[in-house]
Amino acid sequence: MGDSDTKHTRELDFLLSRASTDHLIEPAPEKAQLAVILSAALRAPDHGKLRPWRYVVIKGKRRQEFAELVVAAMRRTTPDVPQKKIEKRFQRFSEMPMTIALGMHIQPDGKIPVAEQELAVGAAAMNVLNALHAEGFGAMWVTGEYSDDPQFLAALGFASPHRIAGFLFVGTPEKGPSQTHRPDVEDYMAIWKGEPVSFGADK
Ligand SMILES: Cc1cc2nc3c(=O)[nH]c(=O)nc-3n(C[C@H](O)[C@H](O)[C@H](O)COP(=O)(O)O)c2cc1C
Repeated sequence: MGDSDTKHTRELDFLLSRASTDHLIEPAPEKAQLAVILSAALRAPDHGKLRPWRYVVIKGKRRQEFAELVVAAMRRTTPDVPQKKIEKRFQRFSEMPMTIALGMHIQPDGKIPVAEQELAVGAAAMNVLNALHAEGFGAMWVTGEYSDDPQFLAALGFASPHRIAGFLFVGTPEKGPSQTHRPDVEDYMAIWKGEPVSFGADK
């Protein structure tokens, strides 16, 4: 059953039309617009109301400085990282219209498991991706081994146990929305009939 076969609302159509892109040009959202977009994060489910999400916005002339931190962390994490990879990553971080680091303010010793706090940060990030899409912006969630580097995290303001869940690249899509192929949802759902289920996706 495809997305378009059944009658549904425009709002659902909007969700069904989101796709990631890192082909991004200016403009990125300005300050007031970004505040509204990030407010969507505060609508994410969040066990214990811990509000574990934190957003560090990197834009303008700070991008180059930040790209330097990224490549220094890459070198520390993977000393034999190829120079080509360094150059590519430097270029991406210094030229993206905006990068948002997805901070996770973790409470390790409380009642709420850390995994649930991480899930809340992920759910909030998804809301931000959809809010960006709603406002006509494009985005892509990326990460890498370097984003666990303690020195890098400290430079962003996250000392252990706080970490980041990667970055959102943000800007205006260079091209119109590309309709990427999506698998058939029937392969990922099952009605439970009192027996263990199996999924088409796993066959
Ligand atoms: C936590 C997380 C980290 C990701 N890291 C990367 C990454 O480093 N590089 C990459 O190409 N895609 C990464 N992705 C996948 C992209 O964000 C994106 O989902 C993928 O390109 C598919 O596009 P779609 O969102 O339109 O399905 C990551 C996704 C998640 C949820």
